[in-house]
Amino acid sequence: MTLRVEPMRPSDVSRCAELEQLLFPEDDPWHEVSFLSELSGPHNRYITVRDAEGRMIGYAGIALLGTAEHPEAEIHTIGVDPELHRGGVGTQLLLALLAEAGRRGGPVFLEVRTDNLPAIALYEKHGFHIIGLRKNYYQPSGADAYTMRRPALSGFPQPDDGAGEQDSEQVGVVSDSEPLAAVPSEPLAAVPSEPLAAVPSEPLAAVSLPAQLPPEATS
Ligand SMILES: CC(C)(COP(=O)(O)OP(=O)(O)OC[C@H]1O[C@@H](n2cnc3c(N)ncnc32)[C@H](O)[C@@H]1OP(=O)(O)O)[C@@H](O)C(=O)NCCC(=O)NCCS
Repeated sequence: MTLRVEPMRPSDVSRCAELEQLLFPEDDPWHEVSFLSELSGPHNRYITVRDAEGRMIGYAGIALLGTAEHPEAEIHTIGVDPELHRGGVGTQLLLALLAEAGRRGGPVFLEVRTDNLPAIALYEKHGFHIIGLRKNYYQPSGADAYTMRRPALSGFPQPDDGAGEQDSEQVGVVSDSEPLAAVPSEPLAAVPSEPLAAVPSEPLAAVSLPAQLPPEATS
């Protein structure tokens, strides 16, 4: 299956809200206005994945925070059409976000429900570690969240990143076993700094996946 990773456009938000209802029914799923608000954030980068027919099958967003000297990033969301789970779409989205964060360097943070084993497994596979617990983080469910952190990649020295904590073996998984060539080669940074109407209409990347998606695994 050919997938295209592209910057999210305002016209995508209704499909995003539709997927949110399916993916996060217990935790106040984002509505269209939430996505529009996120898209307008100057430090946010939002992307979508489309299949060969152009149907949006996943979305993700990250905030690029900190300063040029001490950058950090925070993943806000990743969602994949439930009918296509375990087909590699989430991996492509995460790699695209990490590539974007990697252009500035610094650690990457996120929150994930403690019972969301598929997402935790995905993040651990890409160098994230659990560093904290936030009680009652999600509403209205009251579910707890883990905070996870992926250290700065080597090559982006970060004085405050705690070099001693850096797990070069796990971080290496990101660049070694998952080629970043599969993610956008053009900086997504061009998206939010332009007026939203100017979001490029050309796909940022096309990646190939096996035609047959493996069946959803139970978690
Ligand atoms: C988490 C999510 C984005 C993963 O997307 P996906 O396209 O299914 O993920 P991938 O197919 O790329 O899977 C990559 C890895 O994630 C892990 N993973 C994904 N689904 C899993 C499952 N059901 N059980 C265990 N591990 C799983 C595995 O390590 C997998 O690698 P493998 O297939 O080689 O074993 C998707 O399940 C989703 O949309 N969930 C609902 C929304 C959500 O929870 N978002 C995260 C909020 S923090």
